[in-house]
Amino acid sequence: MNLAVFASGNGSNLQAIINSCRKGKIAADLKLVFSDRPAAYALTRARRAKVPSIVSLVPRDFPSREAYDQACVELLQREQIDLVVLAGYMRILSPLFIDAFRGRIMNIHPSLLPAFKGGHAIEDALAYGVRVTGVTVHFVDEQIDHGPIIAQAPVRILAQDTRETLAARIHRAEHRLYPQAVEMFVSGRLKICGRTVIPS
Ligand code: GRF
Repeated sequence: MNLAVFASGNGSNLQAIINSCRKGKIAADLKLVFSDRPAAYALTRARRAKVPSIVSLVPRDFPSREAYDQACVELLQREQIDLVVLAGYMRILSPLFIDAFRGRIMNIHPSLLPAFKGGHAIEDALAYGVRVTGVTVHFVDEQIDHGPIIAQAPVRILAQDTRETLAARIHRAEHRLYPQAVEMFVSGRLKICGRTVIPS
């Protein structure tokens, strides 16, 4: 099975997936790392790991979101990608992209969905005063942070937490959970039934 990871930034989740593939914990080939930002540190990680295909396309070089996503889909099809793993990819995918890979795109979000959707989940959980937040891996559909949930892990919020200390624990939870969720897909153990993902 061939994996592609899409990342816009630091790529620590990409790194966790690279490490799990290397150790054989994910029995798949990481064939492609893609970014919308040529300067993303994720691309440096991909180069170091000698990922066979490393591609960055700049959105402003394309006339529309659809044209950009069409180029992504063609790339994924050319590389015969089975699963697209979004790991801090900051663009919203168009329906064209989601349709082409329905049930084969995963995302990780730093909260227990459906709480704290959007781009500031860690800050929002802190500001709201919840005692427990966490991480969610889900399939991607047309709505933001919405698709069927694959796996979740809780992270307790401590009285002395700052954005930084909480983010660090959330990232550690992500790095454990995301490779496990990818491996479940790779080994054919995830079945989507409506909103529910049934693991076996
Ligand atoms: C993670 O917190 C993830 O939940 C969110 O974006 C962040 C990416 O971090 N979608 P990194 O680039 O993998 O370090």
